[in-house]
Amino acid sequence: MSLIKLLRFKLFNDERGSLIALESCKEIPFTISRVYYMFGAGAGVSRGYHAHKELQQVAICVQGSCKFLMDNGKDKEEAILADASIGILIDKMVWHEMHNFSEDCILMVVASDTYKESDYIRNYDDFIELINSK
Ligand code: TYD
Repeated sequence: MSLIKLLRFKLFNDERGSLIALESCKEIPFTISRVYYMFGAGAGVSRGYHAHKELQQVAICVQGSCKFLMDNGKDKEEAILADASIGILIDKMVWHEMHNFSEDCILMVVASDTYKESDYIRNYDDFIELINSK
């Protein structure tokens, strides 16, 4: 099964522009507890470099573009996000990195839980060890 899981959101287009609505357990496959967004990444900046024990997230590039690397400890896959109507699922226990942010990139993330540092695996060797212990 592909590591890259893209969600295509319905666009409400009219002469005033476009609108996308995201609801818990509808467009987003979990109950949304938190929304955060990243912007202003300079040239050459990368973010992420962690996995989550339980958290599920969907990331949407609402402006600009960036590249996602997903790694489940066995396979690695990349995807470029450059469309506000497409989300990428960041499942639990998937190491993820974000690269190649465009200057105008605004990356919005909806998450299944509040911020809990204890849910983070920030060391790649620890991540691989946890994967192999399952
Ligand atoms: P960090 O996890 O380092 O970001 P990235 O995943 O892009 O590497 O988060 C940066 C800072 O923001 C860090 O001090 C923790 C804080 N933070 C919150 O307080 N709440 C949140 O929901 C998130 C995602 C981060």
